[in-house]
Amino acid sequence: MNVVTILASPRPDGNTERILDWTERALREWKHSVERIHLNPLNVRDCAACLACAESTDEPGCALQDDIPHLFEKVIAADAAIFASPLYMWGVTGPLKMLYDRALCLVRNWGSPEHRSFVEGKRIAQLITCAGGEGENTEPVTTTFSRLAYFLKADHRGTFVFPNCTEPAQLPNTHGNVSRDLATRLVE
Ligand SMILES: Cc1cc2nc3c(=O)[nH]c(=O)nc-3n(C[C@H](O)[C@H](O)[C@H](O)COP(=O)(O)O)c2cc1C
Repeated sequence: MNVVTILASPRPDGNTERILDWTERALREWKHSVERIHLNPLNVRDCAACLACAESTDEPGCALQDDIPHLFEKVIAADAAIFASPLYMWGVTGPLKMLYDRALCLVRNWGSPEHRSFVEGKRIAQLITCAGGEGENTEPVTTTFSRLAYFLKADHRGTFVFPNCTEPAQLPNTHGNVSRDLATRLVE
């Protein structure tokens, strides 16, 4: 399987990158191909709400010429995608939120029987690291991602939460197993 991973942490070699490394390592061990895209250094703009995309039938058709159209091309060409972010104020980081908003251009005819998506059936999962615990802390990102998957008609493989992440050198041992569970769930 071809898997695209999108890392949305500003901290190089931070908790999110470390844990994503483990998930990617498992995928590669099982002979899947993995391409990582680090979102934060890219040029990513806010959705302009121009709805130019709605006029385009055979491609996403976003009018903004930043790095997102190319990134979406890679996601469309892949079999599966992982979106990895630290939890920031009960949400994903800013660049990933902008990417989620821009996913509007991947869908047509929302709310009607003609609802269709350029990523229909694609396997998607979300990886979230946070300093606090699961539950109320992470419920907003879990719910948003599940609704986004429904909107995208994607194959929702879940949000995997890694709590109690403060420093990369002190990550709980159990996180290694959960990072592999994510890989398993994505490709099983
Ligand atoms: C601006 C900011 C907001 C944060 N908000 C939360 C939060 O709402 N809940 C939480 O549990 N941790 C929060 N954290 C902690 C990070 O999510 C956590 O330490 C994460 O693992 C950092 O990942 P990184 O090392 O990849 O940057 C926040 C950290 C920062 C810098």
